[in-house]
Amino acid sequence: MSDNRYYITTAIDYVNASPHIGHAYEKIIADVLARFYRLRGAEVYFLTGTDEHGQKNATSAAAAGKPVREFVDENAGRFRELATLLNLSIDDFIRTTEPRHARGVEAIWKRVAAAGDFYKKNYQALYCVGHEAFVTKSDLVDGKCPAHDAEPIVIEEENYFFRLSKYRSQLRRLFEERRDFVVPASRYGEMLNLIDSLEDISVSRPLEKLSWGIPVPGDPTHVIYVWFDALTNYISAIGFGGKDEAFGAWWQASHHLIGKDINRFHSLLWPAMLISAGVEPPRQVLVHGFITVEGQKISKTLGNVIDPGQVAKELAAASGAAIEVCVDAIRYFLLREIPFGEDGDFSRAALVHRFNADLANDYGNLLNRTLPQIERHFEGKVPTQGDERGGDGSLRETAVNVASAIGGYIDRQDFKGALEEIWRLLGVANKYIDTEAPWTAVRTDRERAGTVLYNTLDALRIATILVSPWLPSAAAIIWTQLGIETPLGTQRLEDATRWSRLKAGTPVRPGAPVFPRIETKGTTAEKTQQIGGPKVDNTINIEEFKKLDIRVGEIVSATRVPGTDKLIEIKVDIGGDVRTLATGLIPFYQPDDLVGKRIIVLANLEPRRVRGIQSQGMLLAAEWEGKVALLTVEKDAPKGAKIS
Ligand code: ME8
Ligand code: MG
Repeated sequence: MSDNRYYITTAIDYVNASPHIGHAYEKIIADVLARFYRLRGAEVYFLTGTDEHGQKNATSAAAAGKPVREFVDENAGRFRELATLLNLSIDDFIRTTEPRHARGVEAIWKRVAAAGDFYKKNYQALYCVGHEAFVTKSDLVDGKCPAHDAEPIVIEEENYFFRLSKYRSQLRRLFEERRDFVVPASRYGEMLNLIDSLEDISVSRPLEKLSWGIPVPGDPTHVIYVWFDALTNYISAIGFGGKDEAFGAWWQASHHLIGKDINRFHSLLWPAMLISAGVEPPRQVLVHGFITVEGQKISKTLGNVIDPGQVAKELAAASGAAIEVCVDAIRYFLLREIPFGEDGDFSRAALVHRFNADLANDYGNLLNRTLPQIERHFEGKVPTQGDERGGDGSLRETAVNVASAIGGYIDRQDFKGALEEIWRLLGVANKYIDTEAPWTAVRTDRERAGTVLYNTLDALRIATILVSPWLPSAAAIIWTQLGIETPLGTQRLEDATRWSRLKAGTPVRPGAPVFPRIETKGTTAEKTQQIGGPKVDNTINIEEFKKLDIRVGEIVSATRVPGTDKLIEIKVDIGGDVRTLATGLIPFYQPDDLVGKRIIVLANLEPRRVRGIQSQGMLLAAEWEGKVALLTVEKDAPKGAKIS
């Protein structure tokens, strides 16, 4: 039974400020997982919420001149609204200021206390409020926490300590027995390396220093440390400390999705707390990377804190698409651009590009080319599917293969790969309708034209089921246009693996384009401007950049070109392929200086003849004040390594 359950949680956000695109990114991934597991037929419980106690929230409330309760209520409301805006299919939204949560925290505290895992200790340490965690001098740069650009506070007090060090061997065993306890593997390795140096940690604050928290059971002079409090949301929300029955059923299927900055708390402290309390560790911790905005870290000081709702509004204004569809476009964009686990960038120009190229063109247009033909030539009803001919079989195979493979991608957290697969299907379907040209066929062989349109619609049906976790609103609209009577919500992944599932004779319902193209005039810089991005001249988009094949190369020979004063002919190995380049490097370099050097080569520049030499690429160099310096790589990147 537990095999068919999937419990997915997100980090609960601090309510010290408004939500930004980084928060949205995490919640979207969790929602895609929740929706995908439902599509697979699993019983899903999806939890998110807000982390409302602690120094960080209390300090921000004081800075805003508001009573802390009022302050957190207001900001928690914004996070709740974000969940609605993003169309998160949540089953619960927990706030750590709710009584049901306090009950769970008290219960786990009592169990850990009963296990003898608390003791009181006087100590002095540095505390970063931004992190809500102790830091050491070696974490600081110029006396400040680099992540928060703030000096830590000095804490000198008597607190309760949790015997984290006692759990080193049990944590090691957990990691050894469960190689996928933390994913991606690099994050698992990082945590495994920390286990042997785990020390006991302070888990309370004296009431007179910080009153904004849950009191320590039996000792109201202390409040519980905000992380001890917050982590417990994952079990308090499902009934721990209350009706324990629901708790056990979901807990075995628990998956925590979090950002890389809080992995230690989830993969080390949290399982240790649970083992101490006699509760199983969670099933898995999934760690995502960080989002930058237009290449920069998100920060209030830089003023680049992007409100996802604002971006959706801008996109709606620029495209004329419904706001829910624009939210879908953001959901799609983030998961298509950023490989899970890696850091990635949010840029408005890249978002517009994806909207036009992938959503409007590849997906929307396929529908807009098919439905009007059906209206015109088949009285607006799904035509009959005739015998398989021409490209029919390979379209069918692609559709069935893509649908069957998609679950594997999700199991590997390869959301980008999953979307690429679905877009491969859309690509094949677009080529199919181009090649089979039903608009021409209809003049001579109406039946054949009907078959082609049927097959194209069937591919669209399958693609629409498959994209629905990423694009829930747009997929629902498209589903209606396809005229399929059973609601999209009742479809299962299984249905996407079956071909020929449309009912001939069912009326289609063409409507306005779901993803109207964003008319972008002029340069990419102007396009960025249109949706409110910063003004940068001469920008190129990431797709344009990706056309450049730039590689590390090693110079294997260099000779002066006779009869010229600057030219050196070099041969450079770019990983198996040796290229000849004519370079104007004299007087800055002599041939002998060059052999053996690692340089950077633009490998796909059109070959050109330079003084009788066929030059097959270009090396990259910095030029200033008439001087020239070759570009090279840090570290031992091998020949052929790609620059991106
Ligand atoms: O850490 N890109 O809350 P938080 C991607 N309350 N993800 C980001 C991000 C960015 N630029 N900035 C933040 C906390 N996040 C605690 C969690 S859980 C029991 C308690 C992610 O508001 C971050 O990694 O600072 C975390 O997973 C989530 O947003 C909340 O961060
Ligand atoms: Mg944070």
